[in-house]
Amino acid sequence: MLPVAGTAGAFGFMGWYAAKVTFGKKKVGAPHFVAGPVQKIAALSALPGEWSEVDFFYDRRPCTLLRVPRLVEGGLEAGEAHLMAFSRVCTHLGCPVNLVKDLEVLAFAYNYRPPKGERHPQLGCRCHYSVFDPLRGGEAMFGKATLPLPRVRLELRGQDVYATGIEPAPILST
Ligand code: FES
Repeated sequence: MLPVAGTAGAFGFMGWYAAKVTFGKKKVGAPHFVAGPVQKIAALSALPGEWSEVDFFYDRRPCTLLRVPRLVEGGLEAGEAHLMAFSRVCTHLGCPVNLVKDLEVLAFAYNYRPPKGERHPQLGCRCHYSVFDPLRGGEAMFGKATLPLPRVRLELRGQDVYATGIEPAPILST
């Protein structure tokens, strides 16, 4: 009787967990920035083309500044350039995320293919292969993470990009 109950319990948990990570991903809404220090991140010229990136620390959190092809809620329009910045702390268990530009790497290493019409670089976490979409405000698209990456508030001063706030760090959950 005990082994049967144990097996049923294990399958029940696996089913619940699979449903949670598949259907429980939180949609990204309007940003809720908390004001922080005003900190220069980079000159605009350090982001010469789409998907250029600059990594930095803000509020003691590793972050990344990306030049993206279109304006995204929570981002910054700087002349011709559209910018977004995110915390690089994965919302699953806190490993660092990195920009994955090669969609073949994304497909084979992360087992994720963005839907048609949305084939662009993604932020990926190598610990358990969660994928976050920068053009959806950092929404968790695939893998164990369910919460989006916190966004960093950006400001342009002259030709330099500054960080002035960040969304709160989520409580990490398995
Ligand atoms: S820590 Fe990133 S997917 Fe687990």
